[in-house]
This record gives sequence, C-alpha cells and structure tokens, in this order.
Amino acid sequence: MLRAGGLVAFPTETVYGLGADASNPEAVRKIFEVKGRPATHPVIVHVADAVQAATWAREIPEAARRLAQRFWPGPLTIILKRAAAAGDLVTGGQDTVALRAPSHPVAQQLLARFGGGIAAPSANRHGRVSATTAEHVRREFGAAVDCVLDGGEARIGIESTIVDLSGGQAVLLRPGWITGGQIEAALGTPLAARDTDAPRAPGTLAAHYAPQTPLVLAEGDLALELAVSLKRQGKRAAVLALSTRQPPLEGLVWVAAPPDADGYAHALYASLRRLDEAGCDVIIVERPPQSPEWAAINDRLARAAAGSPAPDEI
Ligand code: TXA
Ligand code: MG
Repeated sequence: MLRAGGLVAFPTETVYGLGADASNPEAVRKIFEVKGRPATHPVIVHVADAVQAATWAREIPEAARRLAQRFWPGPLTIILKRAAAAGDLVTGGQDTVALRAPSHPVAQQLLARFGGGIAAPSANRHGRVSATTAEHVRREFGAAVDCVLDGGEARIGIESTIVDLSGGQAVLLRPGWITGGQIEAALGTPLAARDTDAPRAPGTLAAHYAPQTPLVLAEGDLALELAVSLKRQGKRAAVLALSTRQPPLEGLVWVAAPPDADGYAHALYASLRRLDEAGCDVIIVERPPQSPEWAAINDRLARAAAGSPAPDEI
C-alpha cells in the first residue's frame, strides 16, 4: 500500500503515525488532506536507522551522530538541513527535515521491508488529541486511511522529543519522554531551550492536542471546588484527577490518572478522549507537579488548555 501511494497508519512507541511514502508527493499530499493539516506544517520522515537518515539530510553534524547513537531507535526526532530527497511537502518548504527512527517492532519491520522513508504525522485530525491505539485511528479517520496496523497501546503515549540541530546550537523544540537533561548529558553541552521558561499567557500558545470540550488546568483543591461550583450552576464537569479523592457529586465524570509521570503520559490521550466523549461542559485537569520528568506532560496539557476560558470565566 505504501508503494502504491496509499496511507498506512502504524504504531510507534510514542503515538500512532499516519504514514505515506515520503518520496511520493501525491501520497504525502493525502496525509495533509485527511488530517486537515495546513500545507506549511512539515512532517517527520521516519527511517529504519541512522544510515537511512543520511539520505534525507545533507549534513549530519557530530551532535546528530551522538544523539542517534544514544537514542535511536527511540522517541527522539532530530531536525537537520534537508537533502534534495526531502521535498517541499515533507519539509513545509523549509530548508530542514525532521528525522526519527522509531523503536516499536511493527514500525521497525514496516520500515525495514519498505526500505524507504515514511512521512508520518501523529494519526489525529489537526489540532486534536493524538491516537495511542489502532481503534482511536479508525474512529478518527474511518475509511480515509487504507490500512491501520494494530500494534496495541502505544507504550509511551506522548509524542517524541524534538531537537533542532540544523543551526549552530541544539534547541529543544518539543519536550518528550527523553528529557532535556538526557539530551544535554548525551551532547555534553547545554541545550538552548525554546520558550520553556517564558510565562505562558492563555491563548498565546498554539492550541493543540486539544479535546473538543473546553479544558482547564487547576491546582488540586481548586479542581474540586471548580467541579462543585459548576454543579451548582447546573453544568457538568469531567475531571482528570491526580491526588484528590472522588467527591460524592452526582453526574461528575471522574478519571483517576496514574500518579507517576510515565504512567500518566501513557494514559493521557486515552483519558482525554474518554473525558471528551462524556460530553460535559468542561474538562478539569488537576495540574501535575512542575518537576522535569513532568515537562512533556505539562507542555501537552498547556497546549490542550490554550484557547479555553480561564477557570473563573466558566
Ligand atoms: O512521536 C512522534 O513524533 C509522532 C510519531 C508518529 O512519530 N509524530 C508526530 O508528528 O508527533 P506530528 O506531525 O504530529 O508532530 C511533528 C512536529 C510538528 O510540530 C512539526 O511542525 C514539527 O514536528 N516538524 C516537522 N518537521 C519539522 C522541521 N523540518 N522543522 C521544524 N519542525 C518540524
Ligand atoms: Mg501531532
């Protein structure tokens, strides 16, 4: 199907990908159509290994070799200067290309047998919650996808860490399961983080990874108070809880998240889908800790909440 220019969704260790032959512009165009993704958004080219990656990048700096050696196959995407093979659709017309060798055995076998690069964004409609099961992908796209390879639940559950090595210094573009600290340790140099310390005003973040129901983040006790006050106004709340115990409130939709960062990430998107499907007026997410191992989770939650009203406006 890939060789025929079709769309093949496949499991990776992070989330499911919506794949097409990266060297076939017509096939890649279908990804954008089906996702409803703007043509200027570049997609990751998935490769079997660092040897294959060399086809797509015109320069492989020492830092890239190190990171690939240390973290591939695995949940790390590296941005490099593109080679001619990386067309305008894959790169969004930029001079760079994103490369990742996933470790999921099904993805590995698919890439090895296909022999080429597979362009794949996360298998969800643009701006929505990523898919962590084959069932999510089928529900999201139906017959618009030619084939969904079912590899079970994605182990990690949130998208890969993205590091830009196309310029002079390494920049963290998207936090992930591999932390900034691990990248720095492998590189032996500090990472230039992009905007992670800057204050985040609601609405200034590109809304992404978002359910359809408005989502607000609230500190532990506030999450409960908010649910109670919504109830008084005749509204229904769905809560993704971390530490607080379920209150005896009728009609409250309640999902208890695993207390550790790995477990939380693994369950996050399936939980958000469940809470969204409950059709409540608002999803309240109890804010997780701010320590480094929660960075990727807090990043996704902040984006999911961007564009939703502030707690006191509900
Ligand atoms: O874990 C993952 O990375 C999953 C699995 C399927 O591999 N893929 C994924 O793809 O999350 P996507 O398209 O949903 O997110 C990729 C991000 C986008 O924000 C895109 O803008 C960015 O990577 N990106 C892709 N190519 C880029 C480039 N050349 N320069 C800068 N950013 C790029
Ligand atoms: Mg995505």
